[in-house]
Amino acid sequence: MSSTRKRLYIKTYGCQMNVYDSERMKDVLTPLGYETSEEAEGSDLVIINTCHIREKAAEKLYSDLGRLRPFKDAKADHGGMTIAVAGCVAQAEGAEIMRRAPTVDLVVGPQSYHKLPELIARAHRARGEALDTEFEVEDKFDQLPTERHVEGYSAFVTVQEGCDKFCTFCVVPYTRGAEWSRPVDQLVDEIRRLAAKGVREITLLGQNVNAYHGAPPAGREADGPWGLGQLLRHIALIGGIERVRYLTSHPRDMDEALIAAHRDEFKIMPYLHLPIQSGSDKILKAMNRQHTYAEYAELIARMREVRPDIAISGDFIVGFPGETDADFEDTMRCVREIGYASAFSFKYSRRPGTPGAAMPNQIDEDVKTTRLHALQALLDEQQTDFNRSQIGRTLPVLFEKAGRLPGQLHGRSPYLQSVHVDGPAELIGRIGQVEIEAASRNSLSGRLVGAERDVA
Ligand code: SAH
Ligand code: SF4
Ligand code: F3S
Repeated sequence: MSSTRKRLYIKTYGCQMNVYDSERMKDVLTPLGYETSEEAEGSDLVIINTCHIREKAAEKLYSDLGRLRPFKDAKADHGGMTIAVAGCVAQAEGAEIMRRAPTVDLVVGPQSYHKLPELIARAHRARGEALDTEFEVEDKFDQLPTERHVEGYSAFVTVQEGCDKFCTFCVVPYTRGAEWSRPVDQLVDEIRRLAAKGVREITLLGQNVNAYHGAPPAGREADGPWGLGQLLRHIALIGGIERVRYLTSHPRDMDEALIAAHRDEFKIMPYLHLPIQSGSDKILKAMNRQHTYAEYAELIARMREVRPDIAISGDFIVGFPGETDADFEDTMRCVREIGYASAFSFKYSRRPGTPGAAMPNQIDEDVKTTRLHALQALLDEQQTDFNRSQIGRTLPVLFEKAGRLPGQLHGRSPYLQSVHVDGPAELIGRIGQVEIEAASRNSLSGRLVGAERDVA
């Protein structure tokens, strides 16, 4: 083990899975003497964990590399700076990055993070040899350290990676590979260790998390693969875990077992991120989503039947090729009919290699902008209304950290809303009862009216 301390700076773009991956890269590098630094300047190793989902996200890599150049030059006589590119741009364009950007020492795809120490050593010997964009997910989770460093009381755990859906706009099936689920026992082990470190809330992650079908626990082989509903119920049994969440689901994989788990298991939070992307059946078909608006609306109705207070969240794309004003109106109608507690919305971005990029009738940027503004205004209004509807209710809030003002705590409601309240710092890491008194678009505030008893 190295005795010299080395500084590591990681910049993370993209989805929660990249956030999880960055944490796991730190876990791999800590035993080598790396300590996390808040700034790139002066660091021994800089990792840029990239996202390829939209053009703008991918472009950030090259501007970051430009900014890093002087830092790397300044460090040349002081031990040097190793620059690594990780994540989905690395997977998609690894060889091109090596060719275009001589400041980059190594490229590592999402399934090869356990090999970072070896890649760093190889990069120090000869730059050209340090590129690894293999697709063996199984290896990765077997070889990542079992110990995780965690900060705070809420943690992400990847349970499923990759995607077989091939929506015509999306790069994920190409950057993350085929769908693959981690075995139940491996997940339970990871979550037990997190719970022992004080984690109270787990968010299960997957590009299609509800397509989860992992190997059952030892002794339950006869069950065959477990689905997400079964996994959620099982995780809710782990001592110390009070809240379970999951992201992101696909409408086609919302099965009855998962819906029933929301009815029966109160530790599964009443929040569902279920993207539809468009409210027009014609566009849904062109996107290869493989369901209609009516089927989606029916699913949401089922969820509300079993859990009437469930908060629905979604993702939308405006300006997919061929989207007419009438198609866009269908999206607006969908939003009005479903009613979202929160949502993300994007202008369609033409991604090389995806079927959508080659479709005729690409939409003008200014039309996309107008549609996005209209959609976001409606979604913002719904989010504010949803937050205001909590005024007067008493909600259990998991306090995660001190708030911005002295004596203030910051936490999350069951519906994933930010909540600010005055209260003692001892409550951090615990669940308190908060009577909601005020609400804005982005947060709630109120008065502490009770707290859970001390956990032995
Ligand atoms: N697996 C998830 C989404 C993963 S990508 C699902 O099936 O819903 C996250 C979001 O980025 C998508 O829901 C979509 O709204 C958006 N997105 C993906 N590709 C995009 C593109 N080419 N242009 C604009 N937005 C895109
Ligand atoms: Fe992309 Fe569609 Fe897979 Fe989601 S389901 S990751 S949008 S291809
Ligand atoms: Fe981006 Fe890759 Fe996530 S493309 S959204 S970082 S899976």
